Amino acid sequence: MNNAPIGIFDSGIGGLTVAHAIRECLPNESLIYFGDTEHLPYGEKSAQAIQHFSKGISRFLIEKQCKAIVIACNSASSTAYDEVKAVAAHVPVINVIDPAVNFLKELSASRVGVIGTKATIQSGVYKKQIELHAAQHQVQQMPTPLLAHMIEEHFFNKAVEQKVIAEYLSAQALQGIQHLVLACTHYPLIQNQIEDFYQGKINIINSAELVAAEVKAKLSTLGLLANHAKPSYQFYVSDYTESFDKTADLFFGEEIGLEEVKLWA
Ligand code: DGL
Repeated sequence: MNNAPIGIFDSGIGGLTVAHAIRECLPNESLIYFGDTEHLPYGEKSAQAIQHFSKGISRFLIEKQCKAIVIACNSASSTAYDEVKAVAAHVPVINVIDPAVNFLKELSASRVGVIGTKATIQSGVYKKQIELHAAQHQVQQMPTPLLAHMIEEHFFNKAVEQKVIAEYLSAQALQGIQHLVLACTHYPLIQNQIEDFYQGKINIINSAELVAAEVKAKLSTLGLLANHAKPSYQFYVSDYTESFDKTADLFFGEEIGLEEVKLWA
């Protein structure tokens, strides 16, 4: 069991930011990643649809003998966490929201901005969890639905993207914040542009490393850490896209195998 892979999924390339952080933090672990490129963006889908896709992917990862599942997607974490836990009842399931909320617990009172997809923001999960566990903060949340699309289309560092980012971050809803939670796993790919916009005046919270630390802590508590000499990295997508291939290469270099698999055919 210890050398079994960790299963990670997202709608597309966003979760690669989490997979990358996990590899940095846990270099002995083998990883299986599933990008549901056929159904992205999740952020525009209903909770029922996201639950349906998340359950299918979780079954696939369990069939691949994964010893843990990481929901590397805020939209799925906020709408389908219980459903994934039900499918993967015998392994730990880690979402991307709790580690960010736990991090906020330790900070002194502030105004916290949260940006994410429509599915994540409309679920109200961040607001609820922060009010419950880190109640010293005031939450100001706003959906930024164009960002994941642009990132998936590899629009990083383009003037048009800079304009869209500036337009969103200038919104009234985000005025006066001291911290900004990147509540979509695609957003770390444009973290530099977001930091440029704020010119260092706002603390940006990217939960990828927090999630990786949580995975490590959980596996360690359960005695499930791997001792591989050479871990493997296997990537699956529900629809082959060049964008996914390019980004996976960027994060994992030559080491990856990428395969298309039709879970819903
Ligand atoms: N990366 C995802 C998230 O964290 C989903 C983006 C999307 O497919 O809309 O919400």
